[in-house]
Amino acid sequence: MKEMFQKKVEISHHVQVGPGYFRMGLVFPEVARIVRPGQFVMVKLPDQRIPLLRRPFSIHNRLVERGEASGFELLYKVVGQGTQAMSELRAGNVLDVLGPLGNGFFYPESIRDAFLVAGGIGVAPLYYLALDLAEHRDVRATVFLGGCSAADILCQEEFASIGARVFITTEDCSLGDMGMITPQVQKAVEGDGKPDIIYACGPHAMLKTLSDMAAAQNVPCQISMETMMACGFGVCLGCAVKKAGGGESYLHACTEGPVFDSRAILI
Ligand SMILES: Cc1cc2nc3c(=O)[nH]c(=O)nc-3n(C[C@H](O)[C@H](O)[C@H](O)COP(=O)(O)OP(=O)(O)OC[C@H]3O[C@@H](n4cnc5c(N)ncnc54)[C@H](O)[C@@H]3O)c2cc1C
Ligand code: FES
Repeated sequence: MKEMFQKKVEISHHVQVGPGYFRMGLVFPEVARIVRPGQFVMVKLPDQRIPLLRRPFSIHNRLVERGEASGFELLYKVVGQGTQAMSELRAGNVLDVLGPLGNGFFYPESIRDAFLVAGGIGVAPLYYLALDLAEHRDVRATVFLGGCSAADILCQEEFASIGARVFITTEDCSLGDMGMITPQVQKAVEGDGKPDIIYACGPHAMLKTLSDMAAAQNVPCQISMETMMACGFGVCLGCAVKKAGGGESYLHACTEGPVFDSRAILI
């Protein structure tokens, strides 16, 4: 049984980083000490009846104080009631947090070059991944950020500051090249040579295109699936993801994911 903690934790900082986008720091050393890139926490607003259910959020960054893991950051987009209510909280308020949950990204032996592909807020788990790859695994990361417009492109400077190459596309051409991010990835695979692995998080359509491309190019690809989740630890069966290969077999995104080998599931 994996270690898991639940408690009411203090918000250390909470800043708006774009229209509808927020970065929130949470003081939770027990989780910060053990959490891996790609894992997530379930969050509930204490003393509020709406929303009743917890909401899942990826670990965006780990916070370190005096050399000790002290907490972590979430990066989130306001899309509904829960995230709207979260966005109104201030530093010093508390949130009820459960985690770490899920499997996280895995690192095959001897990877040297990785492509990290984010669609919009799918960037959230990829920054912590890039940091871990750079600090502990000596892996060269190339990051692809796609969004509808410039306002949806987050963390560009943060990735650059840890030595990652960054490519950007926006659908309205307000930043980077015009269009979707997947053709840029395809171009880089064909031009600069294949990476050892592709890691991705974003909308289903992007993940589907990317996993088809990765399969055609014979590049391993891991994707983080942001399905609906009610419990986060295997009880409600609300997060089913269909297994590849036909039939009616399913995997739980909360316990067997959210990170999957793209060949293992039907997107
Ligand atoms: C493992 C995991 C990690 C996640 N990490 C992040 C993160 O780091 N940052 C972030 O901003 N979001 C993340 N999400 C999505 C986030 O959980 C939802 O946006 C949030 O639950 C919405 O809550 P709400 O009450 O504001 O919206 P609701 O009122 O519940 O829904 C509003 C709208 O958002 C849609 N929606 C709700 N949940 C999801 C979802 N999981 N995927 C796609 N659409 C959804 C609904 O269909 C509806 O249209 C993650 C989801 C999962 C499963
Ligand atoms: S979210 Fe409840 S079983 Fe996965």
